[in-house]
Amino acid sequence: VTISGLTRDVPADAAPAPGRAPLRLALLGFGTVGQAVARILTERTDVADRLRLTQVFNRDVARKRVSWTPADVAWTDSFDAVLAADPDVIVEVVGGVETAGTWVRRALARGISVVTANKLLMAAHGPELMTLAVEHGAHLRFEAAVAGGVPVIDAIRSGLAGDRFTRVAGILNGTCNYILSRMESGESMAGALADAQLRGFAEADPSSDVDGQDATAKLVLLAGVAFGRHVPAAQVATASIRRIDAIDFQYARRLGRTFRQLSIVESDGSGALRASVGPVLVPASSRFARNTGAQNLILITGRHGGATALSGEGAGGSPTAVAVVSDLLALSRVPANVAGPMERPWEPGCVIPPHATAYYLRFVVRDRPGILAAITTALARYDINVDAVLQERGFPKDQLPFVVTVEPCEVPALTAAMADVQAEGFHAEPPLVVPVLPEEDDAAPVQ
Ligand SMILES: NC(=O)c1ccc[n+]([C@@H]2O[C@H](COP(=O)([O-])OP(=O)(O)OC[C@H]3O[C@@H](n4cnc5c(N)ncnc54)[C@H](OP(=O)(O)O)[C@@H]3O)[C@@H](O)[C@H]2O)c1
Repeated sequence: VTISGLTRDVPADAAPAPGRAPLRLALLGFGTVGQAVARILTERTDVADRLRLTQVFNRDVARKRVSWTPADVAWTDSFDAVLAADPDVIVEVVGGVETAGTWVRRALARGISVVTANKLLMAAHGPELMTLAVEHGAHLRFEAAVAGGVPVIDAIRSGLAGDRFTRVAGILNGTCNYILSRMESGESMAGALADAQLRGFAEADPSSDVDGQDATAKLVLLAGVAFGRHVPAAQVATASIRRIDAIDFQYARRLGRTFRQLSIVESDGSGALRASVGPVLVPASSRFARNTGAQNLILITGRHGGATALSGEGAGGSPTAVAVVSDLLALSRVPANVAGPMERPWEPGCVIPPHATAYYLRFVVRDRPGILAAITTALARYDINVDAVLQERGFPKDQLPFVVTVEPCEVPALTAAMADVQAEGFHAEPPLVVPVLPEEDDAAPVQ
């Protein structure tokens, strides 16, 4: 059964497809996620009639071998040996785009289905891989690639498939959320990042998290699943959270708001999409603001059903492995004599500029008379209305932070005005520009 051209999933607790032998699974990558997948498959004896781990592939596999997997599992460091054993499904949890992509292509080209957690691969080559899967009667599933254990892809494809989606907005990167919610309690950016690294939420090199590339890859997949369009990552307006400072949370509090890294994709109704990832000033009463720590939160909005919220563990070996095994169980429901209900490959997407939005502008200046006048004059030159001016006391005159909020304006006007402002000689550091989420857009605020 297909809904909106996508495979309708059979519930995970449904009976296995009649006459279907357990799916023979080759696990590619025995790292954080791979080991957690193997643990679940080994412990879940209740699904042994559907799923059977037959191979584990990893480089230098001898050092990876463990005693707790079934004794008949074959351990190999040869991908050719994996293919030669002709598994039903390859579970790709190695990561990276090039090598993993080659393996996934080779598997799909032989009609072997693939379940992957690889957001970078799917964001870069999703349509091509889906086409390959269609051509060879194979399945390609990637629930684990977005929001770890939160079943957001399944919700869009199945549970909410009856709606016409207008927007998917979410906190898709737990590291950023952890850092920003720690900063809300007075921690510095450097301190919050060090803490995230200590707790294992952030990599030694956190660039992909804090600069937005990780969330952008996930947003590309959500755009594909919700709107059937492939938006290349380079076309998503992506901003880093790096420049948010402790002082910004003081000003945000005065505005009844806080900062979150939000990933938003929305349709204009005619097939074009707006897509952005970066820090946003959200109301303190909103669900986004209430979402603290490393948790993910996604709001899926449809024309008929309104906003539906999903939240939970967006990363970590075990939650991610749950998503992988759920995909495998869904595949085990597909009757063996069915060549394969197909994914419809995403069409190329057309990205349009963001809506006119209010902005938070934070300046740090070497104080002298006339600074505020210079800023408001530059803004007025481009028809931008000032909403409020805020200044906390107690800062040195040569490093004085203050904030100007402006009413909704278009990006080109703001960019031009800020270029004029930046040409002035009074800046102690470059201004920070952050969009303000409109109250009415902040779906389902918590009372
Ligand atoms: N960890 C999470 O929370 C999470 C959440 C969602 C999605 N994912 C995705 O899941 C995938 C795996 O992530 P992970 O955290 O499990 O990574 P990981 O811990 O680094 O595991 C990757 C495994 O693949 C092996 N490997 C790497 N390159 C290889 C190669 N060229 N040939 C053979 N084996 C190779 C590694 O072996 P070595 O031991 O030799 O390095 C390691 O065992 C990635 O696509 C990631 O984006 C992860």
